[in-house]
Amino acid sequence: MARLITLLVGALPLTSTVSAAILPRQTPFDPSAVNIPPMLRFECSQLVIDRIDPLVNPGSIPSPHLHQIVGGNSFNATLSHDLVTQSTCTSCVFSQDFSNYWTAVLYFRARNGTFRRVPQGVSEGLRGHGGITVYYIPPYDGVTEVTAFRPGFRMLVGDATLRQPAEKSKHDPKVCHRCMPKTGDWSNLNCDKPDTDELPGKFCEGGIRSVITFPTCWDGVNLDSVDHKSHVAYPVEGTIMTEGGGKCPDTHPVKIPQVMYEVIWNTTIFNDKDIWPEDGSQPFVWSTGDEHGYSQHGDYVFGWKGDALQRAMTQSSKCFGDVCDGVLERQTDEQAMACTKERAVDEDVDQWLTHLPGSVGM
Ligand SMILES: *[C@@H]1O[C@H](CO)[C@@H](O)[C@H](O)[C@H]1NC(C)=O
Ligand SMILES: *[C@@H]1O[C@H](CO)[C@@H](O)[C@H](O)[C@H]1NC(C)=O
Ligand SMILES: *[C@@H]1O[C@H](CO)[C@@H](O)[C@H](O)[C@H]1NC(C)=O
Repeated sequence: MARLITLLVGALPLTSTVSAAILPRQTPFDPSAVNIPPMLRFECSQLVIDRIDPLVNPGSIPSPHLHQIVGGNSFNATLSHDLVTQSTCTSCVFSQDFSNYWTAVLYFRARNGTFRRVPQGVSEGLRGHGGITVYYIPPYDGVTEVTAFRPGFRMLVGDATLRQPAEKSKHDPKVCHRCMPKTGDWSNLNCDKPDTDELPGKFCEGGIRSVITFPTCWDGVNLDSVDHKSHVAYPVEGTIMTEGGGKCPDTHPVKIPQVMYEVIWNTTIFNDKDIWPEDGSQPFVWSTGDEHGYSQHGDYVFGWKGDALQRAMTQSSKCFGDVCDGVLERQTDEQAMACTKERAVDEDVDQWLTHLPGSVGM
């Protein structure tokens, strides 16, 4: 097992191997045939793109900046309701997952100063409409147990106000970007090189990927905290990939699944040097008004039905990618894509815009 783990940490061909493993979907799936541990990796199509943020700005319609949101359709400017019973559909392919997941939105600023929203692509091997590829990863060692979240649990990674790299002591290396090749990027999603905090400054043939990785240690008591971060922590030693799933701090002793978002921003339609800045700077900007890349963030509110997620983590050897036969219910990709919601804030987000939604300054 130690050797296998070293192998995985060293050169984990995560994305492509999972994709290859789950394609074609009709073939019976054999996790032992691939050299990576079981995990959930599934598409959640776009539910809505809207300027609300029930975690950081509850009740504000509109909130300061635009988000892209996936998951259960009870998503609202306030989130005090029960996501499972109040939702009538989910945009995630696992139909027992009514959680909500959201991030900032990427815009392109043309040479003439106007903005256009960058559409999202879908990660290799999955089908959907924009949205987020969501991961739930139990420790790679296959023996360490994790405790799934409780109803009402929520957390946040990243900081929408950042305009420069975070102070070292607070530095959160878990939000990063990669300039993707056209196809088949075989290297890891752990925010190591070649990933950067900044947005890449060149044409990316496969778009720009942002990865947001949540903490794996919980204080075991609080479903939330004032900053939406303090009730969870990253391991003080090791990671989900090392034996024992990393060492949690004494203050946050409960191991939780590794939640991770992967978002492919399809920048390829803007790869035209005639509309890029003449000074060679990069033209993309987050909906927060940040033109460097530091302010991307991910919000999570747990909303799985009953103990479905706990069962998927405990019986993880049966789950791989978006197939978890006998443990989780899966709807069709089309059913997931059909779950959408009207925007709460009625404003233009998809034309050539003279200002970013909310007129956030840059
Ligand atoms: C969503 O918010 C609106 C307005 O605040 C409220 O009327 C409605 O009941 C909320 N829906 C849910 C499911 O909480
Ligand atoms: C700005 O540039 C974009 C990209 O070339 C173009 O489509 C748009 O019409 C321009 N807008 C104005 C106001 O010139
Ligand atoms: C990006 O959009 C182009 C044009 O619509 C499409 O051909 C391509 O497959 C998309 N790429 C991704 C990664 O979604």
